[in-house]
Amino acid sequence: MMRDRQCGTLREEDIGSVLAVTGWVFRRRDHGGLIFIDLRDRSGICQVVFSPEVSGEVHENAHNLRAEYVISVKGEIRRRPEGTENRDIPTGLVELYVKELEVLNESAPLPFTIEEAAETGETLRLKHKYLDLRRPELQQNIIIRHRVAKLIRDYLDEHGFLEIETPVLTKSTPEGARDYLVPSRLHPGHFFALPQSPQLFKQILMVAGFEKYFQIVKCFRDEDLRADRQPEFTQVDLEMSFVEKNHIFSLIEGLMEMLFRDVLDIDLNIPFQRLSFHDSMERFGNDKPDLRFGLELSDMADLAEQGTFKVFLDAVQSGGKVKALNGKGMAGLSRKEIDMLTEDAQSYGAQGLAWIKVKNGFDSPIAKFFPEEVLRQMAQRLRAEEGDLMLFIADKPNVVYDVLSRMRLDLGQRLNLIKQGYAFAWIVDYPLLEWDDEEKRFQAMHHPFTAPIDADREKMLAGAAGDKTMLSSLKAQAYDIVLNGNEIGGGSIRIHKKTVQQKMFEILNISEKEARMKFGFLLDALQYGAPPHGGIALGLDRLVMLLVGAQSIRDVIAFPKTQKASCMMSGAPSLITHGQLKELHIKTDGNFDPPEEGSVQGQG
Ligand code: AMO
Ligand code: AMP
Repeated sequence: MMRDRQCGTLREEDIGSVLAVTGWVFRRRDHGGLIFIDLRDRSGICQVVFSPEVSGEVHENAHNLRAEYVISVKGEIRRRPEGTENRDIPTGLVELYVKELEVLNESAPLPFTIEEAAETGETLRLKHKYLDLRRPELQQNIIIRHRVAKLIRDYLDEHGFLEIETPVLTKSTPEGARDYLVPSRLHPGHFFALPQSPQLFKQILMVAGFEKYFQIVKCFRDEDLRADRQPEFTQVDLEMSFVEKNHIFSLIEGLMEMLFRDVLDIDLNIPFQRLSFHDSMERFGNDKPDLRFGLELSDMADLAEQGTFKVFLDAVQSGGKVKALNGKGMAGLSRKEIDMLTEDAQSYGAQGLAWIKVKNGFDSPIAKFFPEEVLRQMAQRLRAEEGDLMLFIADKPNVVYDVLSRMRLDLGQRLNLIKQGYAFAWIVDYPLLEWDDEEKRFQAMHHPFTAPIDADREKMLAGAAGDKTMLSSLKAQAYDIVLNGNEIGGGSIRIHKKTVQQKMFEILNISEKEARMKFGFLLDALQYGAPPHGGIALGLDRLVMLLVGAQSIRDVIAFPKTQKASCMMSGAPSLITHGQLKELHIKTDGNFDPPEEGSVQGQG
C-alpha cells in the first residue's frame, strides 16, 4: 500500500494517528524552519508539514520538492495551531507532520501552474489537457458527469429500459449536419458515415420488439462549432414503443427531478410548462427561450401601419414583421450608446434599429412619422413608462425573431433581469416541415421520421406534394426540452407506417431511389409490423454544463476539440501517408504534403 488514505479525507478524528497519503505537490510555502505543502489528489487537498524537529533529513529533502512532483508521505496527524485553521476546506483543521517522504515521480517545469490554469490561454490548456484536468474545478465537473451518467443509467434501468449499442461505422443519419465519413478499404469508393444520432437504429430496435431502449452514445456532426456544440458529443438517446408524447414527457421530468435533487439538492417543479413553437417565436424570438426573465417581444405591425415610416411599412407590406422590446430605464442612453446597440443589432443581421425614448413625451428621429395616439399605444403595448427605451426591428420574420431574441438576452444581462435558478419548458406543436428558400424545397423541421399530429395525417396523405400552403400548415408530434435558454433535448413520435414514411420522402423531394439507397433498411423494417413508437435524445454535455454551471461544454468534456474541430493534444486530424491513401483508393487534390512513409506509423 502506497497510502492509507486519500488527502481530502483527513479529519479531526484522525488526530494522533500515523497515516500515509500520496498526491501531487500543489502549493509550497517555505516558512524558514517549517515547509508547508498542500498535497492534492482526486479527493481534495491536505496540508503536510516538514519540520526539522520531526526529521532533519526529510526536512532537508523537502527543499527539493517542486510543483506537481508526485510524493508519498507518512506521519502523524496533528491539530493545526489555533488561528491557522482553514475552515474553507474539509481537511482544514488538521495537518500531517511528515516522518517519511518518498518521491514517486518528478515533474518537468510546468507550462502553466495548476492554480492559475483557469486564466491561461485555452490553446495551451488544450495542448496539455492532462494538466488542465488536474484543476479541482475540472475534476469536479468530470466527477459530476460520471455521477449524472450513472444516475441516468440506474433510473432508466428501473423504468425497464435496456442499454443497447448501435454501430459507429454506419450510414448517414439526417440530423441536419454534414457527415463525418470513413473510407472503406475493402469496398473501394465506399464510405461509412459516423452516426449523427442512432435515430434509424433505435427505431429498428422498436420494430425488433425491445420496447424500451436507451444508450449513452457518441454522435458526430460536422457543423459550425460554438460554446454549446462539439463535433463529437454525447446523447442520452432513448426510444419507447406504445407511447404518446405525454409518457415521454413524464419520464424525462422524473429523470430531471431525480438528477437535480441528487446533484444540486434542488426540488424542481414538475410538470414543466409547455409552450407552442408559435408562441415561443412570437414572445421570445426563438424556440429555446430563457424563461428566467420576461422582456417579451411585442408585435407592432398593426400600429406601424398607422404611421408613415417607410422602413416599417415596407417590411409589413412585403410579408415581414415589426416587433419591439422595452429597454427598461434606458431612455437616458446617449446617442453614442444607442449607436452601439444599433451596431449589435446589425451584427445580428438587422438592417437597423429604430428607437423611441419615452422621455418628456416621445423622443426619437422616427416619432414624427406617427400620430401621438399611436406612439401612446406602442408604449402601452410594451408597458413602456417614463424613462424607458422602445426598440424596434422591421424585417423578414426570421431576421426579426433572430435579432430580437439575441437583443433580449443582451438586455436581460445588461439590466440584470436574469434570475438565479432553473427554468425548464417543453416546446411543442412544431410545424412538420420548413420551407428551404435556398434549395426551393421543404425540409423536415425535426427529421424525416417524425409523425404529423393525428389530425393532420389524412391531410398529409391526401395532399399534393407541391401544395405549399397545406404543407406549411402541418403540425408535427415533435418536442424540444429547453433549460435556461439551452436546447437540452429533442424528440418526436415517429412515423410507423411505411405508406406515411414514403409520402414524407415524396414531400421532401427525396426520390424512391434515393430513399431506398439511404434508408432502405428502415423502410424494409417498417413493413413488418412496426409498433407505434417515439423517443427523445438529451444532450448530455449541455445538461452537465448547466448542472455544474460551466460556460462551455468544453469544460465538461475530458478531451474536447477546438472551434476548428481539432484536438490540440493528440494533433488529430492528421495527414496520412501516400501508402494509406492508396490502400483506401483515395486520391487527394495534392494541395498538401502527405508525410513520409513510416513517419506516422506505429502510433498504436
Ligand atoms: P437532436 O438533433 O435535437 O435530435 O439532438 C438531441 C440533442 O443533442 C444535443 N446536441 C448537441 N450537443 C453538443 N454538440 C452538438 N453538436 C449537438 N447537436 C445536438 C442537443 C440536442 O437537443 N435523433 C434525434 C432525437 C430524437 O428524435 O429522438 C436527435 O438527434 O442538446
Ligand atoms: P433611415 O431611414 O435609414 O435613416 O433609418 C431611420 C432609423 O431606422 C435608424 O435608426 C435606423 O437604424 C432604423 N432602421 C433602419 N432599418 C431598420 C429596420 N429594418 N428595422 C428597424 N429599424 C431600422
